[in-house]
Amino acid sequence: MRKTLSFLVALSLVGATAAAQAPAPKPEQVIGYRQSLFKTVAWNFVPMGAMVKGSKPWDGVEFKRRSIAVAFAAVQLEEAFTAGSDKGAVTDALPEIWQQPQDFTTKLKAFQRTSNALRLAAAGGDQDRIKAAFGEVRQACSNCHDKFRAE
Ligand code: HEC
Repeated sequence: MRKTLSFLVALSLVGATAAAQAPAPKPEQVIGYRQSLFKTVAWNFVPMGAMVKGSKPWDGVEFKRRSIAVAFAAVQLEEAFTAGSDKGAVTDALPEIWQQPQDFTTKLKAFQRTSNALRLAAAGGDQDRIKAAFGEVRQACSNCHDKFRAE
């Protein structure tokens, strides 16, 4: 009985340790995660751009929903460029991301700030404000791609 108890206690300790030290995601998992986030960003950003351009009818409810998705992904991207995830799978992320982390972080923060501003503008519903805010986000995409993404 005593033996069984101490075995059970030992087992639960093993469980607790395993939970506390969940293995870090592998580089290929991080790369897959980040590419799926960018796919989510583009999935939503492209139809928003079509509405801004007028090639797709304006739908304020849809625009608002998509702006939330983009702002959400922008925040999630913070976990998607961990050390060591510069390789391990096919990736267009350039080594400069890890060599100049401050500049990269500045550009990621700009994306978070502008996409959050777009989300707030979309919630407000003023089309002129929304279109201006959309332009700011698109600029944040290019600013980062120009330096940190391979063609
Ligand atoms: C802070 C930098 C940064 C910002 C901001 C950014 N991107 Fe990217 N983007 C990247 C990098 C780096 C990759 C390459 C990721 C990889 O292959 O590992 C990428 C990849 C992509 C991809 C390809 C995804 C795939 O693998 O299929 C698309 C599409 C994309 N970005 C669209 C956008 C759009 C649209 C915006 C703005 C709304 C944006 N990105 C903002 C850095 C950025």
